[in-house]
Amino acid sequence: MFEDKPYGPVEDDVLEAVRKYKPRPDDIFIVTFARCGTTWMQHIVHLILHKGEPFESFLEFNRASPFLEMTGLEAVENMPRPGAIKTHLPFTVLPFNQEAKYIYIARNPKDCCVSNFYHMTTMRFSPMKDIKFEDFSESFLQREIYSKHLLSWYKHRDDPNILFLTFEEMKPDTRGIILKVAKFLGSQYYDMLRLDEEIMNKIIFHSSFDEMKKLNKQMDVFAEKDPEEIKKDPSMPDYLKKMFLNRPKPMQGETKTPISFVRKGIIGNWKDHFTHDQARHFDEKFAESVKDTDIMKIWKD
Ligand code: A3P
Repeated sequence: MFEDKPYGPVEDDVLEAVRKYKPRPDDIFIVTFARCGTTWMQHIVHLILHKGEPFESFLEFNRASPFLEMTGLEAVENMPRPGAIKTHLPFTVLPFNQEAKYIYIARNPKDCCVSNFYHMTTMRFSPMKDIKFEDFSESFLQREIYSKHLLSWYKHRDDPNILFLTFEEMKPDTRGIILKVAKFLGSQYYDMLRLDEEIMNKIIFHSSFDEMKKLNKQMDVFAEKDPEEIKKDPSMPDYLKKMFLNRPKPMQGETKTPISFVRKGIIGNWKDHFTHDQARHFDEKFAESVKDTDIMKIWKD
């Protein structure tokens, strides 16, 4: 129905409603193509907005930083504020308000491809569960789904209410990025961090790979939960129940294959997955799909 529809189990009626949404001036969107550092930024923004206090639980993470096109608008209406909304929608689909804030994270296309490969092949309900890496990367290129997403936001990188960042700059300088994000969110957050080293250190600690991995483990517990138990859970709002219950049931005889948003967390993991020729082919094809722009200068090495 929608030309720019992202992949994943997004329902048409939810997307239709989201397209009509009028963003509030206090909306903060964390926008990425899947597997570019969304969860990491959700933690960073939450920590900045809450003086270094982390999400209490995985459930709280989903409630306080809802996934727009998965949980729908009810989740956005009910989220505690200030808070940030996660979305994978391209600029062409996500409603825009000049007063709202949008943080976009781009990632090296080959690393993005590798990370998506693991995501799609370890999710038990994935239609691509048994695909070979070579075939996956070819389909990733052919569909031009990442390049279109990236370009849609790159064109707006200098808009005053868009902060365009890359995974590659977050990794070596998390402190610098935290400051940059704080400044973008408002001078009160920036001043707080400049004056209070303790809060800054808490943010760095709780958004570290190891700490996030611990919280992410709770997701495995949800992925394994009996649907009947989820239905009866009084602590879970209905829109979250829907998100968890909508996932297709595991196939018979399947072993545990949890979803992980925190996997390896490095720059250049593609080197362990692409042969020299595959990398060259990928680079050429990707460059073709973003021709007439200078976007590839970001990843020139
Ligand atoms: P890898 O699969 O390359 O490890 P998203 O949240 O958008 O799905 O992005 C997931 C990617 O971000 C995964 O990449 C994950 O490991 C990485 N990531 C998550 N938290 C991180 C952190 N604190 N530091 C570095 N990378 C992190």
